[in-house]
Parts: sequence; structure tokens; C-alpha cells
Amino acid sequence: MCGIVAYIGQREAYPIILKGLKRLEYRGYDSAGIALLNGGLKVYKKKGKVANLEEELQGKDLHSNIGIGHTRWATHGEPSDRNAHPHTAASGRFAMIHNGIIENYAQLKQELVNKGYVFHSDTDTEVLLNFIDDIQKNNNCEPEEAVRIALKRVVGAYVIVLLDRENPETLIAARKGSPLVIGVGKNEHFLASDASPIIEYTKEVVYVNDYEIAIIRPDELILKNLGNERQTPFITKLDMELAAIEKGGYDHFMLKEIFEQPQTIYDCLRGRLDATAGTITMSGVEKYAEQIMNANRIVMVACGTSWHAGLVAEYIFEELCRINVEVEYASEFRYRNPVINPGDVIIAISQSGETADTLVAIENAKSKGAIILGVVNVVGSSISRASHAGAYTHAGPEIGVASTKAFTAQLAVLTMIALTIGYKKGTLGQQRYLQLLKELEAIPEKVATLLQSVDQIKNLAEKYKDAQDFLYLGRGYNFPVALEGALKLKEISYIHAEGYPAAEMKHGPIALVDESLPVVFIATKDSYHEKVISNMQEIKARKGMVISVINEGDEQSIALSNDVIVVPEADEILAPMLSVIPMQLLAYYIGVARGLDVDKPRNLAKSVTVE
Ligand code: G6P
Repeated sequence: MCGIVAYIGQREAYPIILKGLKRLEYRGYDSAGIALLNGGLKVYKKKGKVANLEEELQGKDLHSNIGIGHTRWATHGEPSDRNAHPHTAASGRFAMIHNGIIENYAQLKQELVNKGYVFHSDTDTEVLLNFIDDIQKNNNCEPEEAVRIALKRVVGAYVIVLLDRENPETLIAARKGSPLVIGVGKNEHFLASDASPIIEYTKEVVYVNDYEIAIIRPDELILKNLGNERQTPFITKLDMELAAIEKGGYDHFMLKEIFEQPQTIYDCLRGRLDATAGTITMSGVEKYAEQIMNANRIVMVACGTSWHAGLVAEYIFEELCRINVEVEYASEFRYRNPVINPGDVIIAISQSGETADTLVAIENAKSKGAIILGVVNVVGSSISRASHAGAYTHAGPEIGVASTKAFTAQLAVLTMIALTIGYKKGTLGQQRYLQLLKELEAIPEKVATLLQSVDQIKNLAEKYKDAQDFLYLGRGYNFPVALEGALKLKEISYIHAEGYPAAEMKHGPIALVDESLPVVFIATKDSYHEKVISNMQEIKARKGMVISVINEGDEQSIALSNDVIVVPEADEILAPMLSVIPMQLLAYYIGVARGLDVDKPRNLAKSVTVE
């Protein structure tokens, strides 16, 4: 959470930082701020989106070749001007931005209060900054040294960037647990939470590692560990185009990303799946194929939408590979002292690759001897680096806060892993294997066909936009799609929605059903179809409004439904990649019809780097 941007070089820092903050707004958007050196340390902060800050700063002299900026997702203290970053040290010498949580901040704060420090915000950041400031003053040392000493006492996660009034040619940054990328230009450096603010200036980047401190000057980047030993910066070339992070004519990133899915699923399969040759090539998975095949169990660990992808994968792996699968919320798994035996395989699923709970969960499991496979979208991210092996989802940057294209790409990758393992293990016969390869190859085309029915979904959104609650029901492979449909609607439209296994609905949610409740059934033709129809009858008998997602010619569902959305037929294992798309579109259009900011829903953030 929180986005950080900083610049040092020959250009004007303000426009670079402002643009960068807009790109990082998906990470948090309750307040924003910038600090510059312009005849002294100047700090500007404003509650609300980055545009509010921009408006506030119009007409001001913002000249500076160095600066730091922050867009916030509140943890300690409500969203307000005073809690916004950057914070200023009591001495007035330093300003600092921070992404993460300082867990022992209360103790550090008490020590500082005892020394007479007064705090002007409720944040843990102001505490850490004054802790650094205090060390610097007492030891009369270089700020870099003060940062190092301070961080040895800090418990928690952080990326910090420090701007020093006395050193207009140096920024100091440090990282543990939260992401930090440094773009290396000619006589200039760019710092950011991800590469999107950097991409238009340079493609050469350094991913800072945990427990590293960076001392950044226009022409120099020094990395050191907390033991003050120099580390060699490893320069990586960014494989990303600017167009990938722009809206490209769409009203919202979310819509653009939904429409990108034929291409992103294709990109995910490309170079891996060859249905004609009957092969899947995934080098990371190949390397650990024996261990996966022989694993007693696979544990999928994830959060949010990625957790739903894990649930679909549970059904697929158990069916094709006959391996026991458990799907865990990373936040529960990491604290529960789970039983992990050497040889257990953990599959970590994450779009951002930075979700704190997922990252720590896999680190814990790794230390107990588990094999970690990462199914991650962001190349070079922390989870991908913490994994033994894995497969990237190659969906390109996902900017809309609600995940869409990352989900279908995760399903594509997880399906390919299951196909590979099942076939090698012999639990999946050759004929079915080849048939599934062909069907998987055809999915991008089917998604493209499905996206043509967008106008119909727009009309449905108009019709149902004022509902108070929604129920989403599905069975088997489509049960996680019901959960995902409900999650999308909650996130984007703020309508209360619940996803449930269609049969389990009888044990509670059925009490909610009356003529005002829209009930979405994911009812594509599969081995559960007849059972789903019975559940539809049960809702209809209680006058619920049935919206069903079906395949062409499903007369039984049509007769029971108020509205239907038709999706192309596919093997039941692959059906979620299709049936989830109307769920994404329905949530999107209801959000738009209610006049909401669908790309930045209230209280949410895209990359959750706090636990
Ligand atoms: C946040 C996002 C969700 C996402 C979840 C997990 O809650 O808003 O869209 O599904 O984090 O994120 P990850 O990057 O690990 O997939």
C-alpha cells in the first residue's frame, strides 16, 4: 500500500513526481504529498486524490531538481492533511516518505516523548523519522549512518526515502518487505514503488533487496547492507511499454483490462502450450515436476481474487493430478503454525507479487522445507524472488484496483501446471490431455466472442443497479466464480454481495430471498448442471430474481431466469475463464451506473503490503 516516488537529477522534479504519483494511485489514494528543496525544505500535503494536491499547488514556485512524493493508504491515523506524507523531522532538516508499517512504533514513540518530542500526526512514519533525526543529532553522524542504526531497531515493513535539507545532492532510501525500484538514467535516478513512474525515462532498473540502504546521487547509486558493506547493484532491463500503463481510449483501466483478456490469456499460453505437438513447456515447473507429482499435498496460498484462482485450481488439481490440495488465506496460514512437512508444495498466487501476508507465509513455509512455486504477474517482484520456481502470468500491468485480467491469466497458468503434472503422473490420460490442450488453446477466441455481448450486460447493470444486496451461486468449478463475482460487485459498486456454493445456500442465505434480491447463478453446462437447476428452482419458488450465466440453448435455465447471459461452451475445467467475464463486466457497469470511481474504489488498494 501507499505509493512512493522520488527523483534526483537535472530535470524539474515536481512534474516527474506528480505524474508518478498518478500512476501509483492504485496503491492508495486517501491523501498525497510532495517535498522539494527550493530555498529550503518545502513540504506540500493534501487530503484526497493526487489531483487535489495538484490543484493546491497550481501557480506555486516548485523549482527543484530533487524531491520525494507519496500517495497514501491510511494505516496509522485517519486520512487528513496532517497524516499525509512526507513528514518533517522536529529539527526541520529531513522530510521522509514511507510505505509499510513500523510495528514497534509505540515503543519508539514513548522513548521520543520522554525526550520531549512532540508529534504532529498519528503516523508511525513521523515516529521513525524523528527516531532517525534523534540518532543523527546525538551522534552527529551522516544521515546514512543514522538510518542504519535506526533500522536495526525497527520491527515491521518499510520502504523509506529521506530528503535532507543539508544534502541537496543525495537521497537515502531503504527497504524491508515493501517494494522499491530505482531507475538508472544519465546523471539522474528515479525511485518508485513499481516501474510505472519510471518507464518513460529509462528501462534500466535496480530492484532494491530487503535490508539494503541506497545512497542515491544524480551520478551515483550506492547500495549497502545494514552491516555497512557495499552491495553490487544488479541492473535489470524493463520489459514493459508505456502503452501498457495508459488507458488507451477506454474510460477506465478496469474496462481496458477486461477487454485485454483475449490477448493476455493468449500471451500467457504463448510459447508454452502447443496443442498440435501435444506439449506444455514451463521450465520452472519442469524443474520441480518430480517433487510436485510425489507431493503428499499442495497448499495454495493467496489473498483476494488470487485466493479465488487458488480455489478453482484446487478442483482442477484434485481432478487431474489426484493430489490433495488445500487453499489457504495467506493471512491465516502465516499465523496458524500450520503443519508443513518437507516435500509439501506451496503454490503462492499473487498478481502484484508484493502482498505482505502471502510473502511472509511462503517464507515461513520455505524455512520448514516446503517447495515454493510462485504464480505471479509482476516480474521481479518479492514473491517471485522468494519462490524456488514458478511461472509468470504475463498479463501485463494491472492498474484497476479490482483484479480482472490477472485472474484469468492465473487460471491459465494453474491449469497448465495441473495438465503437466497430471499427464506426467499418469492420472490424466493422453486423450483427455490432448483434448484439454486444444480446448485451452481456444479460450482466447471464446473470450473475444463473449466480450461482444457487452451491451446486454450494460443494460442488465442499469436494471439492477439499485439493488441492496446480491447473491451469487455456483457449484463445482463455478463455485469460486460465484465468490469472485460477489467480490467484484462489492469492491466496485459498494453493493453488499455474497457468494455461496449453490446448495449450501439452503443453510442460511435462502432467508434473504424475496422479490427484491437478484440471485446470479453461474450455470454453464457441466457435471453439476442438473443440481444447479434444482437450486434455481428453489430461488424461483421464493420469488428471487434470477440472472443466470448459461450456455446457448439451455432452455431449463432460460425458463427459470429473469435474465440470462450466454457464454460460449467449454470443458468444465476451463469454464471459469469464461464465466467470470460477465461477472467482471456486470460489476463494472453497475459501478459506473452508480457514478463511482471504479478504478479507485473507496478504502481499497491494489497492492496490500501491510498485514
Ligand atoms: C488487494 C487487491 C485485490 C487482490 C488482492 C491480492 O486486495 O485489491 O484485487 O486480489 O489484493 O493481491 P495479489 O497482488 O497478491 O494478487
